[in-house]
Amino acid sequence: MPENNSPIFCNYDESDYQNRFWGEGKRAYEDASEAIALERLLPKSGRLMLEIGAGAGRNTLRYRGYERIVLMDYALTQLQQAQQRLGKSDRFIYVTADVYHMPFADGLFDGATMIRVLHHLSEIHSALAEIQRVMQYQSVFILEFANKRNLKAIFRYLTGKQDWNPFSPEQVEFAELNFDNHPDTVRKALIENGFIPEKVLTVSNLRIESLKKEENLDWMLKLESALQYLASPFKLSPSIFIRNRQSLEKPDAVDWEFFKCPSCHSYEIVEESVKVHCHSCGRDYPIIDGIYDFRLK
Ligand SMILES: C[S@@+](CC[C@H](N)C(=O)[O-])C[C@H]1O[C@@H](n2cnc3c(N)ncnc32)[C@H](O)[C@@H]1O
Repeated sequence: MPENNSPIFCNYDESDYQNRFWGEGKRAYEDASEAIALERLLPKSGRLMLEIGAGAGRNTLRYRGYERIVLMDYALTQLQQAQQRLGKSDRFIYVTADVYHMPFADGLFDGATMIRVLHHLSEIHSALAEIQRVMQYQSVFILEFANKRNLKAIFRYLTGKQDWNPFSPEQVEFAELNFDNHPDTVRKALIENGFIPEKVLTVSNLRIESLKKEENLDWMLKLESALQYLASPFKLSPSIFIRNRQSLEKPDAVDWEFFKCPSCHSYEIVEESVKVHCHSCGRDYPIIDGIYDFRLK
């Protein structure tokens, strides 16, 4: 378990997730469905976006309106892949850290996304409280989560092929460190942690293996596009996107504030040539080939 009593979570270091899961167009339908949803939910412009659990940066270029983007992930190797894909530029800042202990100033970001990450988090309240802390008042947070109450799970439950109940509010761990969440529970957790859900889209509505062929992609995406709106009141899709507003009034981070020590929470933290040093607790956080490493090992 990482330091500071972080709940245990899935470590993607050394994982070939990007190729294994997304490679060779295996999930072209899901990828394009997410692109449609993001286009609909993202603000047209912004200053500084936080992409939580950015992985290999599959979605990063979709945040077109944002001047700068912080790609944050616990896995160094995922961010190295992202860096290869996006390059080293002032627009992208790469940071390894744990979502439960982020190294950022309070009220720093005017936008954030967390896509395909909540399903690895056992303590969604702690994670949402930490995300709320680093976000500005009225900023936009787009959250994707794996929906426990999806049509396939309901069918499997009703036909006796699945023992867990898709209608009950608690998280279900369907595989080790993989969790599905109930839409009402996620909504409640967002509200309790200072977010106001504004808009919900159901995503990957047609995730049916036998349909997912290259020749079907065109019509599937046309139908998906309509279903994201039409089916959203029912929330029966495997994936759900929610756009939220950070609703707790607080000052934005001032210009010179960016990092905050994730261990002692001090702002006395200074970037040096190959590390970031905290003058309060004395910790050093290495900078590895342009990637800030704030993991509390
Ligand atoms: C399924 S991948 C999704 C990556 C990317 N968002 C995408 O949609 O392509 C989940 C990512 O979340 C990261 N992750 C899981 N738990 C984390 C945590 N506690 N803090 C930071 N990142 C975490 C993993 O390292 C992994 O890269």
